[in-house]
Amino acid sequence: MLVLGIESSCDDTGIALFDSDLGLLAEALHSQTATHQPYGGVVPELASRDHARHIVPLLAKVLSEAKLDKRDITAIAYTAGPGLMGSLLVGACFAKALGYALGIPTLGIHHLEGHLLAPLLEDPTLDFPFVALLVSGGHTMLVDVQDLGAYQILGESLDDAAGEAFDKIAKLLGLPFPGGPALAELALQGHAKRFVFPRPLSHKPGFDFSFSGLKTHTLQTWKASLQSDQDKADIAHAFQEAVVQSLVLKTKRALAHTNCKRLVVAGGVGANKALRQAMDAMGDEMNAKVYYPRMAFCTDNGAMIAYAGYKRLARGERDPSLAIHVQPSWPLDKLERE
Ligand code: KG4
Ligand code: ZN
Repeated sequence: MLVLGIESSCDDTGIALFDSDLGLLAEALHSQTATHQPYGGVVPELASRDHARHIVPLLAKVLSEAKLDKRDITAIAYTAGPGLMGSLLVGACFAKALGYALGIPTLGIHHLEGHLLAPLLEDPTLDFPFVALLVSGGHTMLVDVQDLGAYQILGESLDDAAGEAFDKIAKLLGLPFPGGPALAELALQGHAKRFVFPRPLSHKPGFDFSFSGLKTHTLQTWKASLQSDQDKADIAHAFQEAVVQSLVLKTKRALAHTNCKRLVVAGGVGANKALRQAMDAMGDEMNAKVYYPRMAFCTDNGAMIAYAGYKRLARGERDPSLAIHVQPSWPLDKLERE
């Protein structure tokens, strides 16, 4: 089976070809960072127009890289939600039209399932069941992954997602969009001991997260400081440390609760080096192995959608009709399409 994967849920156009025998054959990504940078955040209308511009050239690129023709594709998987309505529609319309023209099946995929399964794409030692920490720009959740599609959400953020908090604090400190990587870079210059920020919900039982109080604390510390370059770096360091420790604490709890020895860390914030170091140390302590997708597959990409699509298509799933159906809001534990 040769699956074309299409990701267009937010501000990255990702296209990939996954072969059931040979694995990932080619993948290409167009990032819209430059388009949205002047606005300090993603502008939905610009995002969908940009997807429409890049989707066809990206397909041509992966086909030529894999030395294949579009008629070699046997199925198409695309992100059907959650995400921005316009952006999702571009990917879904393209997938459905191409599927119809080629006479092959299509299947809408849940974006977070793509993130969740991404480490399986390249690491044959990983298998179900595992605990997954999904940390992206829109979601922060701990999931008990029993099997493909069997996802029990153990806990999630009650307010901002971790990536969103990174982006907002980065904006406050005057860093360029997207803020997460820029804040992580700046934190390297910060003094570790100067500020210790609160670890939200750490004294409460359960697996939920909260970052809005931490955001307010960070804002107040910034306002009370001289706002020098060193203040900025020290605050970035303390903020990142508080987010990382709060993620580690709840993840450790989830591993103990499920008695699971495999942990997957996925989603954009999973690219954060301080988080990876702290998760590795906690994994050692818990005698658990921690799995990450390769850096480029932490953030949005077509490969994870092609792979999740392959897993589902292989068990016979297909879009039930030609109707175009996307879900901007779509809970991960309700994967049966509405
Ligand atoms: O998974 P993703 O690409 O898109 C969503 O599905 O949301 O995640 C993007 C998020 C952004 O908030 C971005 O700032 C954050 O991931 N991010 C990081 C790092 N790289 C990306 N946050 C902290 N440290 C990083 N190195
Ligand atoms: Zn994502």
